[in-house]
Amino acid sequence: MIIKKIKNFSNKSDIENSVIVGDCFAEMKKIKSNSFDMIFVDPPYYMQLQNELYRPNNTKVDGVDDKWDKFKNFEHYDDFTAAWLKEVKRLMKKNATLWVIGSYHNIFRVGNILQDLGFWILNDVHWIKSNPMPNFKGVRFTNASETLIWAVKDKNAKNYTFNYEEMKKNNNGKQMRNDWYFSICNGNERLRDENGKKIHSTQKPLPLLERIILASTKKNDLVFDPFAGTCTTAVAAHKHKRNFTMIEENEFYVDWALRRFNKNFKSSNLKS
Ligand SMILES: C[S@@+](CC[C@H](N)C(=O)[O-])C[C@H]1O[C@@H](n2cnc3c(N)ncnc32)[C@H](O)[C@@H]1O
Repeated sequence: MIIKKIKNFSNKSDIENSVIVGDCFAEMKKIKSNSFDMIFVDPPYYMQLQNELYRPNNTKVDGVDDKWDKFKNFEHYDDFTAAWLKEVKRLMKKNATLWVIGSYHNIFRVGNILQDLGFWILNDVHWIKSNPMPNFKGVRFTNASETLIWAVKDKNAKNYTFNYEEMKKNNNGKQMRNDWYFSICNGNERLRDENGKKIHSTQKPLPLLERIILASTKKNDLVFDPFAGTCTTAVAAHKHKRNFTMIEENEFYVDWALRRFNKNFKSSNLKS
């Protein structure tokens, strides 16, 4: 098994089991239509954090203040969202499914645009965090969930993959519901540098991606993620014998994703 880091990607390159380093809008244009069996998107949430946040003991909370999460205004964010959704739709096979994750900051906007573009929503899934960050100021409820939208290209897509029986088996023989309980990404799974600093502010928990992969893909399917970050989607795909294509513009994250592969799958053959 090989994970390749690709730059200057052109049509002729083989994009299977690759991480493309680049801007997803430019790179997606080079990929032919109807390429992917499932697409997972964890886009910037446009969180608009106003002030630095401190815990009661005066330690600073690591908020999401990354440059890639900043937009001029909602109009700018909506244009950005519509642009990637249109490209993603073109890249989906006829019966492929799309997953998008978001929080209260963005998910309503994403859902609205997605429906306007003709996607057909199959479910909203609630990721309930078993260990959420408290609301330190005590001015709102603890924000303990994120939402995933699961959709097909249009309402005529009927033969999409849903591994109903496998999900039921994984849920003690009961039908799997749309409330999923997983911890936030912590412990050994969280990528950190030698000073303990998080490599990525929004690394998603692997078990969440594994459930998505197991529910909505078959072995050897090709899974795509245009905002790949630390490539959690690729790790889950490879673990369950699916293929993947990732795009991430920040090479620092990509290099850490390669290290992550190396650590998780020792026999993997890494190439850059
Ligand atoms: C929410 S994070 C994804 C985190 C990822 N799911 C993980 O588990 O590590 C969004 C990512 O999109 C990347 N990004 C933002 N705009 C991009 C663009 N135009 N092209 C490619 N990547 C982009 C950011 O660098 C960031 O790593």
